[in-house]
Amino acid sequence: MAAPTAPRPAVTDEAHAEQHAGFVRYGLFERVLHWFVALNFIYLLLSGFALAYPRMAWLYPLLGGGQTARVAHPIVGVVLTVGVLVMLVLWMGQSTFSRRDVEWAKKLPTYAKTGHTDLDTGKYNAGQKGYFWAMILLTVGLLVTGIPLWFPDLLDSSGVLRAMRLVHHVLFLAFLAAFIIHVYLSSVAFPGTMSAMTTGRVSRAWAARHHPRWFREREAAQRAAGEPIATPDGEDVGRRSDDSR
Ligand code: HEM
Repeated sequence: MAAPTAPRPAVTDEAHAEQHAGFVRYGLFERVLHWFVALNFIYLLLSGFALAYPRMAWLYPLLGGGQTARVAHPIVGVVLTVGVLVMLVLWMGQSTFSRRDVEWAKKLPTYAKTGHTDLDTGKYNAGQKGYFWAMILLTVGLLVTGIPLWFPDLLDSSGVLRAMRLVHHVLFLAFLAAFIIHVYLSSVAFPGTMSAMTTGRVSRAWAARHHPRWFREREAAQRAAGEPIATPDGEDVGRRSDDSR
């Protein structure tokens, strides 16, 4: 006969969801904003290619036609800037750099090779924070260099206009490179990440492996709310790092 087990604390619906579906990483507004910005970005990327490279003119029919793309490109650029500025307001508090980030940057080669560092990473690692700030700066840079191209009569120097076009192009290529890395890391490289931006949740194992300090903070918040803490059977929550950092 099985030994009697100790009575378990009541499991609320929310606690059950937390245990089985992991932690909430992004709220609905954050996710809608992210995909709104991403869609705008993709339109800008494709229309930018079509406008910059005549060989890419085959993209025009996908973008509503050549004339539409030409008119829409700068307007979508302004819309993207507004979305990115809202992201700035929402996420800048979590994206400020600290001394820990210097440690992470030193371990970048290890991260690139293994996809992991043994550091006690919080909600975002330094690479993610860097991506966030790069997006802000590149968006502002593209807007500033894009306005003179939109209204060429504002500048009477064709030399300055040419320089703006060149800088706009270089920033666009930098944005594209950062975007490709972001999409790769969020999908192929780290399975389990995409659900953060679809359902808004990540598994406990994912959180413990990639963001151990954030994992403990979320667990502590659950504990403070009086919810039972349990690791689902068989789930590998990864190695926890030293708390004393
Ligand atoms: C369409 C392709 C995209 C995909 C598949 C994608 C996917 C994701 C995912 C899964 C996350 C959550 C990562 C985490 O919480 O650890 C994320 C976060 C984020 N995304 Fe995207 N994203 C895309 C496009 C963009 C674009 C175009 C921008 C900005 C212009 C952007 C900006 C951000 C920022 C700032 C974060 C938070 C910091 C970070 O995790 O790097 N994303 N994205």
